[in-house]
Amino acid sequence: MSQVARHWYFNKRPTGEIEHDTLVLRSEPVPELQDGEFLFRSIYMSLDATNRVWMSDWDTYMEPLPVGARMLGFLIGEVVKSRHPDFPVGSLATGLSTWSDYIVTDGEGFSPFVSLQGVSLADAFGTLAVAGPTAYVGLLEIGKAKPGDTVVVTAAAGAVGALVGQIAKIHGCRVIGIAGSREKCQWLTEDLGFDAAINYREEDVLEGLRREAPDGIDVHFENVGGEFLDAGLTLMNNYGRVVICGLISTYNATGPVPGPYMFRNVIMKRLVIEGFVILDYAAHFATYHEKLAEWMRSGQLKYRIHMEEGLDGALDALRLLYTGGNNGKLMVRIGAVPN
Ligand SMILES: NC(=O)c1ccc[n+]([C@@H]2O[C@H](COP(=O)([O-])OP(=O)(O)OC[C@H]3O[C@@H](n4cnc5c(N)ncnc54)[C@H](OP(=O)(O)O)[C@@H]3O)[C@@H](O)[C@H]2O)c1
Repeated sequence: MSQVARHWYFNKRPTGEIEHDTLVLRSEPVPELQDGEFLFRSIYMSLDATNRVWMSDWDTYMEPLPVGARMLGFLIGEVVKSRHPDFPVGSLATGLSTWSDYIVTDGEGFSPFVSLQGVSLADAFGTLAVAGPTAYVGLLEIGKAKPGDTVVVTAAAGAVGALVGQIAKIHGCRVIGIAGSREKCQWLTEDLGFDAAINYREEDVLEGLRREAPDGIDVHFENVGGEFLDAGLTLMNNYGRVVICGLISTYNATGPVPGPYMFRNVIMKRLVIEGFVILDYAAHFATYHEKLAEWMRSGQLKYRIHMEEGLDGALDALRLLYTGGNNGKLMVRIGAVPN
């Protein structure tokens, strides 16, 4: 009997939130390998806020996902059969592929996975593959954070945010995080060394920032958008840097998103606002990985992985990102880690 693979297909372009019929899971026979192809067995899949952006019909950094296509995602897995010289059986590969447990591929979008000494596969993939470089580039290369700066980061207890705050601490900054629960805020200040955390579900963000950043903000690292961005803009210091990494509060919007209202401060405070897409920095990932892994091994960078079990639950798991239901980097375990 031929082997069967399961794939999530894009079934209905969402308006607003992702729904239960946005994707459908189907089983199909695994095709025979042709020369230049390999069979990839998925181990972990990363769930990312931008998955929702790919489902939209917006003009973005990627073509919108066509309805009827397999859902795209970042994966790491094992090569289990191969007729491809660069991906031998037993090796690990990672890349942008599809929400599937088995994939026959010619290798496009994949690269061999290089292990990092002293860092587990889940941590290396979950924390370092996308979130780590995003935090590093956003804070240091775009935000140009320097010792003594006051740095504000939103979605601070998330995969990117938690790393941004800690990298800022390593670089001698004062760090204020904004997050959506008491437990998350406590984790930021007590475990990660943030100087302050504001629970936006319990207090007004602008008031909280006025209290915690009495001398103003030098780097505002935005992951959420909306009123958070406005509050940050209101309190920016002269020549401050506003890093637009993500606008997750707007990804489910059903109409045009207004604001930011304090845009005039771009002039009044001589601000630089810059957005970035981490995929553009792929050529430098090895350098970022080495630096980040060094901080992880020395205990200077802490992180948590929120692992959901099984490909079947991937769609429900993705929705956690938009409710704050994830505690740390959201991933799905699809298959076992090889011995
Ligand atoms: N530019 C790039 O290349 C790049 C690369 C990777 C990620 N990103 C962006 O970085 C951001 C964080 O991504 P991540 O993967 O690290 O996810 P994450 O922060 O681990 O998870 C998303 C978090 O966002 C918060 N959130 C969701 N909806 C919200 C809303 N309406 N208002 C306020 N907070 C909300 C929730 O935390 P609370 O419980 O605190 O509300 C949730 O846990 C996203 O905006 C993503 O698009 C950008």
